[in-house]
Amino acid sequence: MTALRLSDGIIKDEILVIGLSYKKSLKDSKATLVIESGDIALDTKKLLQSLADLGATGKCDEVIKIPGLTTRLLVFTGLGKNKTTQDDEILRRAAGAAARSLAGSTGATFSLPAKKISTLEAIAQGVALGGYTFNKFRVDSMKERQLSLKSATIHSNLANKAEAKDAIKRAAVIGEYTNLVRDLINTPPSHLTPDSFCKEFTALVKKAGGATAGLKVSVMTESQLKSKGYGGITAVGQGSANPPRLLQISYTPVKAKAKKSYAFVGKGITFDTGGLALKPAVGMEAMKSDMSGAAAVCAATLAIALMKLPVAIDAYAPLAENMISDNATRPSDIITMFGGKTIEVLNPDCEGRLVLGDALVKAQENKKLDGIIDVATLTGAQVVALGTRTSAIMTNNQDFSDHFFSVSKSVGEAFWPMPLPVELRASLDSPVADMANTGERMGGMMVAGLFLNEFIAPELPWLHLDIAGPAYNEGDPYGYTPVGGTGIALRSLVALAQSAAIS
Ligand code: BES
Ligand code: MN
Ligand code: ZN
Repeated sequence: MTALRLSDGIIKDEILVIGLSYKKSLKDSKATLVIESGDIALDTKKLLQSLADLGATGKCDEVIKIPGLTTRLLVFTGLGKNKTTQDDEILRRAAGAAARSLAGSTGATFSLPAKKISTLEAIAQGVALGGYTFNKFRVDSMKERQLSLKSATIHSNLANKAEAKDAIKRAAVIGEYTNLVRDLINTPPSHLTPDSFCKEFTALVKKAGGATAGLKVSVMTESQLKSKGYGGITAVGQGSANPPRLLQISYTPVKAKAKKSYAFVGKGITFDTGGLALKPAVGMEAMKSDMSGAAAVCAATLAIALMKLPVAIDAYAPLAENMISDNATRPSDIITMFGGKTIEVLNPDCEGRLVLGDALVKAQENKKLDGIIDVATLTGAQVVALGTRTSAIMTNNQDFSDHFFSVSKSVGEAFWPMPLPVELRASLDSPVADMANTGERMGGMMVAGLFLNEFIAPELPWLHLDIAGPAYNEGDPYGYTPVGGTGIALRSLVALAQSAAIS
């Protein structure tokens, strides 16, 4: 990952990144460019002329490079329409777009307008996230590829403040663990199985300090899951040569008392073929991302531990590969979930809710929780409803949802509340079992939410986050978001823990 440093002194890097915005008055429709170089004073007159010659607009995601005056290269990153105070997310994206365009370079200084520590933190995060590359499986083609920008200096007059140093450290943690989530999503099912996912996190927990950091990890194997009655996880995993697992990572603060206790549950389908309801070949490759929720909750827990936040977290990742075979679950099969509910599996492609149901029940066992959150690439209907950049929040507790919404907004992750209309619940009734795994097609995202709701104690505040669209970027990269795994939800989960720490 791009190494992050702070400085308020002379620029040592050969590359300087600064901001470019535009102003538009009501009278004339012509836009005027504005150079925003943070705490570095520049003679902008000539530069503005050159930028105009080059056709610069200052719009978001525009990155323009010109030979520098005192540095070898001057990079302008678009900040969009000029405002008196810039939105942190605009700067996170602008820093990210510039860092992405600087792959292959050794070092760059970023001087962008940051009046607050939170903005400085957002810029540092943007650099760490935008610098991401995934080249693990390239051999021959590696010759034409560039490695991530090696190091970045965030230039600011705030550099000497202790808060700034802490902010950079936090940004490095967010960068490292978001990039880990992306790596796991981008790793194909040939190289990421339920078992290897567990092994990877067992090693990561150790690397993060293990018991000394308050972390504990445990793994349930297929035979343990079978004998303990985890019928959802085993039914989904039984068609695969790569057997299912239930991974649990717990974090208990070491010196401080936990101010809140949360359970996180993430959907961990390492590949979703649809099972006997086989998905069409076109686009199926994207289903390597069906473990995005699991990766996000596990990595967020490690990040929370490394930040030593005074909250207790129990993260669960029910892991399975949804395959077809003579042993795969058939439409009409009836399974018994952990806790005893029976489910008629009408559609083996509705597998996420089955693994989540088991894990949600387990997560509520002998534990006084302040809230439970599941994160899942659950439905194609989510993408239809909200598109590829906005995730859904469903809940049984309006206050918890409102709080999460504001926290996610503050870290630049787009979520939007969706209802759980009671009238849709009846569509999940089964003529032969307690419930069917699929119901009314219209409003399928909410039907899935209503299914999960059946596994939640009514008094326990619960959020269901459907990240089906935003988890995996099949389009062009933008801002700090690369192609492939995005790492969505991690920042919000960490921010929720941070908000509990200060409450
Ligand atoms: N993993 C998919 C949902 C998904 C779709 C995630 C597109 C990301 C992008 C899920 O397991 C699934 O297959 N859902 C079905 C449910 C349907 C059969 C009721 C879907 O959405 O088509
Ligand atoms: Mn599916
Ligand atoms: Zn799925």
